[in-house]
Amino acid sequence: MATTMEELLDGLNRDLSAEYQAVITYRSFASLATGPYRQELRQFFEDEIPDELGHAQFLADKIVALGGTPTTEALPVTLTRDNREMLEIAHRAESETIERYEKRVRQAEELGLTALKVRLEDLIVDETDHKEEIERRLKNWKE
Ligand SMILES: [Fe+2]
Ligand SMILES: [Fe+2]
Repeated sequence: MATTMEELLDGLNRDLSAEYQAVITYRSFASLATGPYRQELRQFFEDEIPDELGHAQFLADKIVALGGTPTTEALPVTLTRDNREMLEIAHRAESETIERYEKRVRQAEELGLTALKVRLEDLIVDETDHKEEIERRLKNWKE
């Protein structure tokens, strides 16, 4: 079944909620990290925030450009005080985000929105970088 503009806009709003969730999650984890790697993890999570905010900005602008209304809701945030669990939560979220953007690329393509498709592919590049960085941190984890 062909994608409709309404389905695409619903999807982009879901993506926007997830980007806001990522901003809150990373801000919270940066503050909650403890132990010998606290400073390192704090810096790592803080460094992700501008990327996720940039994604939110792009999505909100695009939703308006396509005739929609950008959501103001973030998806619920899962908190933990365990450093490793923070990275696992972040890893899961980044993986799910990549899957959603891959679906969005297909929808944009079906609607003939080439520029949106290309920009979504750029987001996939960013999120894949995030995911791989987290994977390297989770490797040989000793704490
Ligand atoms: Fe993002
Ligand atoms: Fe990300």
